[in-house]
Amino acid sequence: MGMILIFISFTLLNSIPPSYGYDPMDPQGNITIKWDLLQSNLGTNDLKVSIYNYQLYRHIEPPGWKLGWFWTGEEVIWSMFGAQATQQGNCSRFRGGQLPHSCEKAPEIVDLLPGTPYNLQTSNCCKGGVLTSMTQDPSKYGASFQMNVGGTTDPGNFTMPINFTLGIPGYSCPNSTQVPPSKFTSDGGRRWTQALGTWQVTCVYSQSLASPSPKCCVSLSAFYDNTIVPCPQCSCGCQGLPGSECVKFGETSSLLQQIQDPTQAPPPLVRCTRHLCPIQVHWHVKQSYKEYWRIKITVTNLNIIKNYSDWNLVVSHPNLQSVIQVFSFNYKSLDQYASFNDTAMFWGIHFYNDMLLQQGDQGNVQSEILLHKDPGLFTFREGWAFPRRIYFNGYDCVMPPPDRYPRLPNVGSTDKSSHSVIVLSFLLLLVMF
Ligand SMILES: *[C@@H]1O[C@H](CO)[C@@H](O)[C@H](O)[C@H]1NC(C)=O
Ligand SMILES: *[C@@H]1O[C@H](CO)[C@@H](O)[C@H](O)[C@H]1NC(C)=O
Ligand SMILES: *[C@@H]1O[C@H](CO)[C@@H](O)[C@H](O)[C@H]1NC(C)=O
Ligand SMILES: *[C@@H]1O[C@H](CO)[C@@H](O)[C@H](O)[C@H]1NC(C)=O
Ligand SMILES: *[C@@H]1O[C@H](CO)[C@@H](O)[C@H](O)[C@H]1NC(C)=O
Ligand SMILES: *[C@@H]1O[C@H](CO)[C@@H](O)[C@H](O)[C@H]1NC(C)=O
Ligand SMILES: *[C@@H]1O[C@H](CO)[C@@H](O)[C@H](O)[C@H]1NC(C)=O
Repeated sequence: MGMILIFISFTLLNSIPPSYGYDPMDPQGNITIKWDLLQSNLGTNDLKVSIYNYQLYRHIEPPGWKLGWFWTGEEVIWSMFGAQATQQGNCSRFRGGQLPHSCEKAPEIVDLLPGTPYNLQTSNCCKGGVLTSMTQDPSKYGASFQMNVGGTTDPGNFTMPINFTLGIPGYSCPNSTQVPPSKFTSDGGRRWTQALGTWQVTCVYSQSLASPSPKCCVSLSAFYDNTIVPCPQCSCGCQGLPGSECVKFGETSSLLQQIQDPTQAPPPLVRCTRHLCPIQVHWHVKQSYKEYWRIKITVTNLNIIKNYSDWNLVVSHPNLQSVIQVFSFNYKSLDQYASFNDTAMFWGIHFYNDMLLQQGDQGNVQSEILLHKDPGLFTFREGWAFPRRIYFNGYDCVMPPPDRYPRLPNVGSTDKSSHSVIVLSFLLLLVMF
């Protein structure tokens, strides 16, 4: 009965379509673009543009942001520091003099790479377009560049461009709104200057805009049950269907030889599995102690052309409010930001496992987590020990149906964990390959 109830509630939860631009795990999440007009003189304007990734767990990975907009007048970018326009465009109307940096009506701006010469840098620039989430590294979630803009139709009156884009799938940006001017200090707060004008654009993410098909799935096992519950078949695609190419284990693909455009993220190229997901998360209920229990999480990369740098996992499970210890991953509860207390974020340790390598022997990361058995809450019954929801890099992972979850044996569950671990690891290998 309980199992059926859980099943129904899960089915309901999973069937609620994600509402446009709203993420219940990160209701405030947004990427804000801020324009500060620093100087305006004889029709040329010095501007500072900043991008802040105000999202708890979504980050911007290589090849990075590519900021675009549309000038409404005859504006040109005379110079730029800390970033560059990808196209100079048609600057022939300036023939005979110094040419602007970009005359494009709809310029596309990319970040400079780390190690850019100092004379082209500005503060907080040159990260190759990569921005971490607010949680993962509070010092690296922002970027900025400066530019000098001329050609404004009405000298002395700067007009904001329209139609902003971030160049990353899934984000939509409204037009700018003017906000109170930013203030800057150069003397530890004893004197403040302020921008002549400040505008903001707040872009929001929507998974349905980003990608219609899932990118990740979950498999489950427990020491008390010998079966491994695999990722649901066709979670991310079905072998043999058009658009679902995969590479058999032991083979390499001719697609690998193609030259990649460094400014475009390549589409995933995955190993052939029953689920065709580039990422598989395995949740194993490993051990039961008197007052604690232990789970093991393994994240496997089945994408053969991508290393996931600064990957992260968001997990929702009621016992995450009583975490005792997390091994080999960084951990932060997301309680303080929202009205729930069962959600936490995990990510790799710098220089140890913050890079989830492309498919192969090294293509996985693992952690064990020790949790307290809260009286009145904890149980191994009815699938309680399994996660409610898992996100990898912000992608909702497909869970197995709850009626398939590992079950407690009906009689005398004793500690047979060490034996099952070996059996399970073997089975896991079988399932994956
Ligand atoms: C964007 O995120 C910031 C930081 O969390 C928040 O203060 C701001 O209200 C958000 N903006 C919108 C429009 O949601
Ligand atoms: C470049 O712009 C000039 C005017 O500014 C125009 O006359 C010319 O046709 C343009 N050239 C091209 C190739 O678009
Ligand atoms: C600047 O331009 C806007 C719209 O184009 C106009 O409403 C405003 O009056 C102008 N301001 C000045 C100081 O010219
Ligand atoms: C700006 O965006 C709107 C709505 O997305 C679109 O209709 C319009 O054509 C765009 N304008 C330009 C100049 O790109
Ligand atoms: C921005 O404003 C322009 C002109 O005012 C309009 O055509 C366009 O649709 C607006 N874009 C968005 C995304 O609202
Ligand atoms: C992933 O990282 C490994 C080790 O640093 C490197 O050898 C490999 O070329 C990288 N793969 C891709 C697709 O960048
Ligand atoms: C967590 O949230 C639930 C329901 O919102 C509440 O009943 C419980 O007391 C909370 N636990 C803690 C430790 O805050």
